Amino acid sequence: MKFQVDVQASSKYSVYIERGLIHSVATLTPAHAKVVVLTDRLVPTQWVSSVMDQFDDPLLITVPEGESSKSLRRTELIVDEMLDAGCHRDTVLLALGGGVIGDLGGFVASVFMRGIPYVQIPTTLLAQIDSSVGGKVAVNTGLAKNIIGGFYPPHVVCIDPDVLHTLPKEEFANGMAELIKYGLILDAELFAMIENERILQQLPETIYRAVSLKQQVVEADERDAHYRQILNFGHSIAHAIEKASNHNVSHGQAVAMGMAMMIQGKPFEERVLKVFKRYGLSTTYSENPAALIDYISKDKKASTDGINEIFVHEIGSCEIETISYTTMKTILEGAQ
Ligand code: NAD
Ligand code: GLY
Repeated sequence: MKFQVDVQASSKYSVYIERGLIHSVATLTPAHAKVVVLTDRLVPTQWVSSVMDQFDDPLLITVPEGESSKSLRRTELIVDEMLDAGCHRDTVLLALGGGVIGDLGGFVASVFMRGIPYVQIPTTLLAQIDSSVGGKVAVNTGLAKNIIGGFYPPHVVCIDPDVLHTLPKEEFANGMAELIKYGLILDAELFAMIENERILQQLPETIYRAVSLKQQVVEADERDAHYRQILNFGHSIAHAIEKASNHNVSHGQAVAMGMAMMIQGKPFEERVLKVFKRYGLSTTYSENPAALIDYISKDKKASTDGINEIFVHEIGSCEIETISYTTMKTILEGAQ
């Protein structure tokens, strides 16, 4: 079964979801003089070769796995490698990997000679259902996550659910955190499907459903002025946990912890915590949660007045409220 989602934002692009698509991404790649395949060391060779084999003389750039590659230093190294290999404006970059590679590859594409086209080929569940769509590209600094970046939509997004066969269990769990997020903020039926594990038998359909939800949000507010911030449910706490742990806590695990803190005391809390557990997501933050406030004040959703937070009052819908840092601290203290 083939699925297609057309995103009609500042630039139009399509997201294709199809089993086996990794073997024909060249047919969806725009015209180019040179192709750069950006990946990380832990993306299995079989997927890297499947993509490389479709192009003449592609340049392969492999970066260390993990969040630390989302940096300006790494960006500079990649740009220099591309220049050394003779890349010009007629180069296309293929971002082959998880959300780290998608964010970094998109950022490199946005700044290389003031912008070249790029193709998202997401290979983790998290990247397939969320980060590869929407055009947010960014790198981190020592103080904050995704703080240097832009909106730079891909030329096309190619999603092959089959590549998830090699994904380690804990990485699948990371993607589940974002999928559960979509159920909680927008789609009660999706949450019920996750709850009764129906999604595991219907992965391409589930990815299509999540991508369609993201498409609607991105089309309504591509530049994150307000509504798109709902996708950051649990994320201001999550980004703070990631930073405080020096990225030893993964993005997905941190998102689960952040969401768990944001639903404390809700009538559906136990139901949601059970789902986190079922998919291997721990929701207990082992350090002092109140100390996260210093990181939260540096979040992009923060201002001098407080922070825009997302609240789920019933499963499947949410709203954005600006809360003071004192209120945020009370939420964090509740998780102690
Ligand atoms: P990741 O990119 O670090 O990938 C996790 C690990 O899985 C890596 O070690 C990678 O090598 C490995 N891997 C990838 N594909 C594999 C496969 N098919 N088989 C085996 N191993 C594979 O992590 P992630 O969870 O995909 O992404 C997290 C990042 O996404 C964070 O930096 C987060 O900020 C970002 N993000 C961005 C957006 C956005 O809208 N741009 C949204 C959500 C998250
Ligand atoms: N943070 C997810 C998004 O806005 O795309």
